[in-house]
Amino acid sequence: MTANNPKVILITGCSSGFGLLMSARLSSKGNQVIATMRNTNKKQALLDEAEKRGGINNVEIMQLDVTDIASIKKCIAQVITKYKKIDVLINNAGYGIVGFFEDLVQEEIRSQMETNFFGVQNVTREVIPFMRQNKSGKIINISSVSGFSSSPCFSAYSSSKWALEAFSESLRYELMPFGIQVLLIEPGTYNTDIFHSNAKYAKYYDNPNSPYYEKSQNLKLMVQNYVNKCKKNPEAIAILTEKLINAKNPAFRNIPDWESKILFILRKVLPFRLYSFLMTIALSKTTRTINK
Ligand SMILES: NC(=O)c1ccc[n+]([C@@H]2O[C@H](COP(=O)([O-])OP(=O)(O)OC[C@H]3O[C@@H](n4cnc5c(N)ncnc54)[C@H](OP(=O)(O)O)[C@@H]3O)[C@@H](O)[C@H]2O)c1
Repeated sequence: MTANNPKVILITGCSSGFGLLMSARLSSKGNQVIATMRNTNKKQALLDEAEKRGGINNVEIMQLDVTDIASIKKCIAQVITKYKKIDVLINNAGYGIVGFFEDLVQEEIRSQMETNFFGVQNVTREVIPFMRQNKSGKIINISSVSGFSSSPCFSAYSSSKWALEAFSESLRYELMPFGIQVLLIEPGTYNTDIFHSNAKYAKYYDNPNSPYYEKSQNLKLMVQNYVNKCKKNPEAIAILTEKLINAKNPAFRNIPDWESKILFILRKVLPFRLYSFLMTIALSKTTRTINK
């Protein structure tokens, strides 16, 4: 099927997960997708998926590391030379470091911000001038349920996504007069490589001398159990992205799954004292289950 109005779409972090699925889906609908990844040796999974869906001729793979300004400039220059414009930027690349604050070292927290927050800014900064020239564009930032609700062990990841949300909200107002829309997708948990081969743990996570050791070990099991049982299809993020790209006036916040929608509403309507009380009960219940 061909998109009514095919777009030039640049996506970061396309070697796996949401980025791979978005690239395969959007290219199969006739859009020109620039699927970027920091290590292009990982391109085969995407090429196979794009081939399967009939979008292979509309996917171009380019090297881009969101923490490496030179690689970003080089990639964007190549895209502009070849395609003259970028209609949609999807800031998707990211990872999550898990660990209690005292088990994390500062370098780990800084690295988390470098990718999930400054990485988005690095790419966005290079793309905006071309969208301004065209007086149109969409910037879709992949945030998370952790962008509006924090839980223990995810402070570094949550901080990076909360910062991303604040940045996106400001940028939305700044770019509106130029015809550029900024929006967020806030997914809950989906079973992708972020929880497996790309999972990262704090330096002292597995240190038996850590005051958090038992809790950390329980949490690791809890998350793994939850993720392995998770039935939500990550393709939902690709479907939602397609819808947002085609919508004339998409919403700023876009929550794909009902669990996250409920959490968002509770967070908005409940006094924080009650919200955190309920969260504490939910978290301790899950930990008890694992202990059994
Ligand atoms: N899965 C979920 O439950 C979930 C929920 C909410 C939000 N999210 C967000 O969704 C986005 C995609 O995650 P995912 O679930 O699809 O995980 P994933 O399968 O691990 O994909 C993450 C992608 O980001 C790339 N990446 C990491 N650091 C990068 C860098 N410095 N430069 C360029 N690319 C980089 C990875 O590349 P490499 O292969 O080279 O590591 C990979 O392609 C992330 O922003 C994540 O925070 C995920």
